[in-house]
This record gives sequence, structure tokens and C-alpha cells, in this order.
Amino acid sequence: PAEDEARIEEIKGLLKANKAVLVAHYYTDDAIQQLAEETGGCVADSLEMARFGARHQADTLVVAGVRFMGETAKILSPEKRVLMPTLEATCSLDVGCPADEFSAFCDAHPDRTVVVYANTSAAVKARADWVVTSSIAVDVIEHLQARGEKILWAPDKHLGGYIQKQTGADMLLWDGACIVHEEFKAKGIEDLKGLYPEAAVLVHPESPASVVELADVAGSTSQLIKAAKELPNDKLIVATDRGIFFKMQQAVPEKTLFEAPTAGNGATCKSCAHCPWMAMNALGNLAGTLRDGSGEIFVDDALRLAALKPLDRMLNFQK
Ligand code: 13P
Ligand code: SF4
Repeated sequence: PAEDEARIEEIKGLLKANKAVLVAHYYTDDAIQQLAEETGGCVADSLEMARFGARHQADTLVVAGVRFMGETAKILSPEKRVLMPTLEATCSLDVGCPADEFSAFCDAHPDRTVVVYANTSAAVKARADWVVTSSIAVDVIEHLQARGEKILWAPDKHLGGYIQKQTGADMLLWDGACIVHEEFKAKGIEDLKGLYPEAAVLVHPESPASVVELADVAGSTSQLIKAAKELPNDKLIVATDRGIFFKMQQAVPEKTLFEAPTAGNGATCKSCAHCPWMAMNALGNLAGTLRDGSGEIFVDDALRLAALKPLDRMLNFQK
């Protein structure tokens, strides 16, 4: 619509005027991903978003995604202004792991190395030995296991269970889940496979074990897009947020992509393959924060330094 086009032009002007760069996650609206791409920003998974933001020369990073992504950007680049279209965009994994309860859990298991998923608050990261994203979680846990370490893992029990299975590591799991990926159903995927037996199944490991078991490839959003290109199959069943279809379809224009079935239809399921918090990012609030700085992220200095250590370990980790 003409209204969107005017907004997009306005945002392009505001990005320049603010010496700002737009860093967007694959689950945000197509228009936001497109804008990030056109203006020299990046569209990426959570690890690449962190790397891109930390290395970029811009004065201001505009992070379109969810709260923990903005916080991570600020922890890694305290000298930059970090803006988000909305400060309300949280994540069920972050919400399900309050810092005080998590800290008590760690206190109760002092013999374990604490590894937390990036989808957590700065306060939870500050309590961790390592932060990981889904793209390097298995590699990091393998490395720790080889050193004989026992792991305390939080917050995603599905991702934790998947890593445990892959590595055989001794892992104590926090009981958290992603409300989007938890909705995918093995039965629905099997039915779809019945219709298209030649289709490959791509799954984000935040999904339940019964769904991951059906996967030809399980991995982070970037890894799934890479797999879509590399697999010979011309039909792909994809179990992750449907926002990924924008870049995935661009990567494989000749292939047919199917959304993996969720628990219910639009009327009954909570999330239906689209993260409600990612969906809060829109052209309107993106322009708004660039105009008035309303979505600026601040992280307390002591907390920032404590959270930086496990984040740096992740960024410096070499397989
Ligand atoms: P990725 O690191 O795979 O992009 O995952 C982030 C996320 O929130 C998935 O739900
Ligand atoms: Fe969190 Fe799930 Fe949304 Fe990712 S998709 S931000 S894990 S609620």
C-alpha cells in the first residue's frame, strides 16, 4: 500500500539521519526484512544478529526482533545506542525463566556448568558460564562434555533434550518452552508426508522431541535456510515460525514450501506458527523509535559486564 511505501521512505531517511543500521530477525514482517536488506543492514538468526551488530560501525543499532536480541546488542556494544520498535516484545522462554528463581536453581547445583540459551534476560545471562544460540549449542555442549563437565541448562527443555540426545551429555534441564514451536504436531507432519512422501522435513529444535524425530534437518533459522538450498528435495515441510518463508523462498524460488501443521487452526491455537512478540515489530513503531528514541535499550553496567563474559565465550568459541 502507498501508506507503507511512504513509511519505508521515511525510515530510510531516518536511518541515514541517525547513522543507524537495521538488524532484523527472520521472524519479523517481510517488509522489515526487505528494508534491512535494502539499507545495508542484516536479516539473520540470533547469533549472526549479535555478530553483525557488534562489528558494525553505526552509531545506532535498530534491532527488530524480541527483547533479548536488543539486550544482547547493547551488552556487546555499550557505546552504541540500541533502539527497538517496541520494548514489549518478549519471548516465552525469557518470561518462563525469572532471574531470582534461576539463581536459586544454580545455587542448588554448584557442581554444574551453567549454559543458557540466548533467549533469556541480561540478569539470567549474568548468572551463566556460557550463552549459546541454537546454531552452536550442540558444538559448545560437546566441547564441555569432552572436558568432563556436567551441565545445568536453561530455559528451553525441548532444545535441551535435543542437545542431550545429540551429545549424550549429563544435562539438568529447566522447564521452559517456546509457545510457537511447541504447537507443531508430529501427527500433522506425518499426514502431510503421506501426501508428499518426497518432501524433506526441516525443524527448529525448540519443537517437541516427537517433531524433531521426523526431521531430515534440525537447526537454527540460518541452518534451515542453508539446508533448504542444499537438500535435493523440491518440496519442504518447515516447522518453525512462518516469518522464515520470506528469505527461504527467496533462497529456493523453484521449491514448494509447506508450513508444518500446528495444534489447531487460526481460531484455536495461541500462536499458529507465528511468534506474537516478533509480530509486534511493524513499520509504524520502527519509524517511531527512530523519530523519538522511545524504544531505547539500557542495561545496568554491573549486569552488563557480568553478562558480557558468557556472551564473549560464545562469540569466541571455535569448534
Ligand atoms: P535462531 O537463533 O535460530 O534464529 O532462533 C531464535 C528464536 O527465537 C527461535 O525461536
Ligand atoms: Fe521466543 Fe519462540 Fe518467539 Fe523465538 S519464536 S522469540 S523462542 S517465543
